Amino acid sequence: MLLAAYDWLRAFHILAVIAWMAGLLYLPRLYIYHCAAKPGGELDETLKLQEQRLLKIIMNPAMIVAWLLGLALVWANMERAGGWSVFLDWAWLGKLVLISAMTGLHHVFALRFKRFQAGTNDWSDKRYRMLNEAPFVLAIAIVLIAVVALN
Ligand code: HEM
Repeated sequence: MLLAAYDWLRAFHILAVIAWMAGLLYLPRLYIYHCAAKPGGELDETLKLQEQRLLKIIMNPAMIVAWLLGLALVWANMERAGGWSVFLDWAWLGKLVLISAMTGLHHVFALRFKRFQAGTNDWSDKRYRMLNEAPFVLAIAIVLIAVVALN
């Protein structure tokens, strides 16, 4: 059944991934600005609100939808192949490791969100600058695997 909707699932999977990635790339950038804000000041309050909206309204739902549709695609591939064996190759295992890393990064950002909300951030802007590069590096590897190795 899922097989009939395969292209739709894939299209909405890619759209959810785009929304998720937009947040993963922008949230650490807000954290960089936030490091320079005076606690309790106007900029601090504005950034707290922007971070909250980005994480709760865009990133969390987009991550969940990307996962659900991705798992639906996995299910459809199993239906087609008649079992799990199709996933036992290096490209799929590589994608699994990398999407787990992306999900882990999301959770690190969510924990740092709580720190900023509580006014207890103890990481430097330099560390956020480095973290800011990670989602894009992971995305390059995931897209190359998804599009080049798995087609
Ligand atoms: C969140 C967990 C994820 C799961 C379970 C998942 C799973 C899948 C599956 C099963 C497909 C279908 C592959 C095919 O038809 O050949 C797919 C397609 C795709 N995924 Fe994911 N994925 C996930 C996250 C991501 C992420 C984070 C990215 C990019 C940063 C991504 C990029 C893509 C792309 C570009 C395609 C289309 C490939 C094509 O058919 O040309 N996925 N995904």
